Amino acid sequence: SSVGVIAVGFSGGQGKQGVDMGPAAIIGCGLLEELNYGLGIRLHHDHKIHTYEDMVPEFEADSRNMKRPLAVSIATQALAHQVYEQARKNRCVLTLGGDHSIAIGTVAGVARATRERLGKDIAVIWVDAHADINTPETSDSGNIHGMPLAMLASLAQTAPGTPFGWLQSKAHGGRTPVVDLKKLVYIGLRDVEEAEQQIIEQYGIKAYTRVDVHKLGIERVLKDTLEYIGRDTPIHLSFDIDALDPELAPSTGTPVPGGLTMHEALLIAQGVHRTRNMVGMDLVEINPLEEPGEDGLGAAQTIACGTEIVRHAFGAMSLREDEYKM
Ligand code: ARG
Ligand code: MN
Ligand code: MN
Ligand code: MN
Repeated sequence: SSVGVIAVGFSGGQGKQGVDMGPAAIIGCGLLEELNYGLGIRLHHDHKIHTYEDMVPEFEADSRNMKRPLAVSIATQALAHQVYEQARKNRCVLTLGGDHSIAIGTVAGVARATRERLGKDIAVIWVDAHADINTPETSDSGNIHGMPLAMLASLAQTAPGTPFGWLQSKAHGGRTPVVDLKKLVYIGLRDVEEAEQQIIEQYGIKAYTRVDVHKLGIERVLKDTLEYIGRDTPIHLSFDIDALDPELAPSTGTPVPGGLTMHEALLIAQGVHRTRNMVGMDLVEINPLEEPGEDGLGAAQTIACGTEIVRHAFGAMSLREDEYKM
């Protein structure tokens, strides 16, 4: 099989330094060799860490309750094109972030290519402690990494000529919303804001909280998720490392206690792989500078967890969860 890899060192969707170093860190620890030599996957990669620095303003005033909307809009539009170019060549696209705002670009690119190639809408499995569906109006933080799904589902105003207006443009396929909320499934939620909860209920979004995973068991959650999505539906897996318990993956900007175990995360990844329908995957929010232990071990462990999740999404079958216990 053939996979496109895009490394995105972008941190403009939130305020902490270091998440831009995520892709270099995980690639430096051998992720691509694991996929290529380890799993026999043919990789298409430009060997760059994309920062979009030359395209985005260095400083930018807040606007419409968003921080750095222009920077995030420009970067995600460029990323959407890169992802589209890979996906239309029949490649599953793996994007290494970066903060979760980059999913605006990855999902838009994959959705467009899949529509053109197969005439189908994608489903999105969003594995995260957070719902990331704030609109600019409902967001307390103004950080766009808490808004990607609102942008993709057209819950936020994105008029032509304003930030994220490109999502509606003809040049980008012109089909909005990019994501049908009936084809979105959350797994792992445990830090959802009031306004986000209202959106989830109003649109009837399928959501398995961390507590649901506990009660039902991950096998059942996975089975129900895949049944809900339907067979032969192309899947984009957007994996925020903060879905994991911070004891396992501490190096992330917005950790929330009580997260998924590696066993649960690997079963999700493996389950999506087994559908043979994965058209895109994001691994986001690894921040090597968020190092509570200050011995580098937290970052190394976070990277090891991320690597294993990606390996399993691309066909590794071993559940070597014993390696991740602290
Ligand atoms: N709900 C919070 C916000 O909107 C936190 C979002 C965290 N998102 C993430 N991708 N880690 O600011
Ligand atoms: Mn690249
Ligand atoms: Mn999150
Ligand atoms: Mn997220």
